[in-house]
This record gives sequence, structure tokens and C-alpha cells, in this order.
Amino acid sequence: MRDSGRESEKAREMAGRLNVPYLPRNGRSVEDMIRAEGLHGLVAVGKKRISCVYPGGEFFFHPGMAKLRIKEILSGKNDQMIKALDLSPGDSLLDCTLGLGSDAIVASFVSKSGEITGLESSPVIWLIVREGLSTYGDGTDDDLVRAMRRIRVICADYNQYLKLLPDRSVDVIYFDPMFRVPGKKSCAMEAMRPLADPSPLSPEALGEAIRVARRRVVVKEAKDSREFSRLGIDHISGGKYSPVAYGIIEKRGG
Ligand SMILES: C[S@@+](CC[C@H](N)C(=O)[O-])C[C@H]1O[C@@H](n2cnc3c(N)ncnc32)[C@H](O)[C@@H]1O
Repeated sequence: MRDSGRESEKAREMAGRLNVPYLPRNGRSVEDMIRAEGLHGLVAVGKKRISCVYPGGEFFFHPGMAKLRIKEILSGKNDQMIKALDLSPGDSLLDCTLGLGSDAIVASFVSKSGEITGLESSPVIWLIVREGLSTYGDGTDDDLVRAMRRIRVICADYNQYLKLLPDRSVDVIYFDPMFRVPGKKSCAMEAMRPLADPSPLSPEALGEAIRVARRRVVVKEAKDSREFSRLGIDHISGGKYSPVAYGIIEKRGG
């Protein structure tokens, strides 16, 4: 971490949140620090960005495809995830697997005033994405920035968090677990992989989500994934040529 001015202050704050030591850079490169301190990786706070650097990779926040997806929605195109979520302005959504936040940003753009909450169990991903969602913006894209700022980001494991929520208290609940078989994902997703929680969605957690959802629970998976049948989901939607699909569980009387 750098050791001057605002970056140093930010680095201390983030070290405190992660409960890890603050290391002043003292003119060293990040790679030298990792070697010298015998670390698996570190969170580097720079002028331009905050990233987690580890041997062979670097993870940092970027809205990724969210920007393009919002543009496409504005031009009248269908977004397969929004279609599967059946999301409208004012709807609340709990994204149980926030990751880089791209899906949550698109959902936030569509739901407008609806409450969008993102859960992330990896503290490093949570911290970097939370910071990115609250600060990213080059002054050219107000829709994107407004959508990012509206997301409430919580560091929590959905297996525990869902149990705390009352029945039928969120309109839509969304899961996008790490795919069992990695697909052709973006560089950002690959950089996130070593930091992410790879656990599969359990039938128990899915059951909790069904209890908490008012209208539906949606699970994203690779097209033709066996996860859908393992979880007992038979209503699948998605683009004809898309490598991903959305399993939908609709609540009766929702
Ligand atoms: C495939 S990524 C989600 C990508 C996200 N939809 C996006 O648009 O960027 C899955 C994320 O869920 C997180 N995750 C996995 N299990 C979790 C759990 N039990 N509770 C909360 N987050 C979890 C992983 O750490 C990872 O960051």
C-alpha cells in the first residue's frame, strides 16, 4: 500500500475493515512487497485504483458489461437476465452472489427506486467492489453511476443471511454461483476466481430463498448445466445462442 496522503489514509481504513496489517510501501513495488513479506497477495491502494494483487493476477473493480447492457436496454433490446427476473421499476432484489456487481448494476438500473442489495462472502471482493460501486464514474454515464450508487453491499454468506430474513420480504432473489465448469468468462471474472467462494448452491439455501422471496428465485448457470436438475429447477430461460441460462422458481400466488 502507498504511504502518502489520501491513498495512505484509504489503505489504513481498508486494512482495518479487512482486519489485516497496513504495510507502507516505502518505495517498493507491489511484487517486491509480496516476496519480502511472504504474502499470498495484498490489497494495493493506488491513485487510480484499488486492487488485489497476487502472484499471476490482479483483481479490481470495473462495471464490465453492465455499461453496454444498460445501453442496450435503453435502445429497446431485451436483457435475458431482466426477463428471467421479471424485474420492473420499484421491485426489490437480493443478489446473493454480488461478485463484480455487473448483474446487480443492471438490475438496479431497471428497478430504479426498488431496493437492491448485494451479498458477497469474500471480504476482499466485497471491499473492492463496494469501493468501486461507490466511487467509479468518469462523468459520462449518469445512468450507470446512479444504478451503481443505489446498490447496498453487504459482506455476508447467503447461507446465514437468508435465515435472518422474514418470509416473503424481497420481491426477487438471484443467485449466480461460480460455475462448476468455468466457461469463457471475462478477464475480470478470471482474475476474481482465486478470491471467490466456489461453493455450489445448496438445496437448503435455495429453500430459504424460496421462503424469503415474494415473487421468484432465479439461478444463473451455464446452459445445459446439471446444477438445474440437481436443484430440482425445470423452468429454464435464456437466449437461444447464449452460453448461460436462468433457472426460474416462481412463487405461487406471487
Ligand atoms: C459468478 S460470481 C457473480 C458474478 C456477478 N453476478 C456479476 O455480475 O459480477 C459469484 C460470486 O458469489 C460469491 N459467493 C459465492 N458463494 C457465496 C455465498 N455463500 N454468499 C455470498 N457470496 C457468495 C463469490 O465469492 C463470487 O464473488
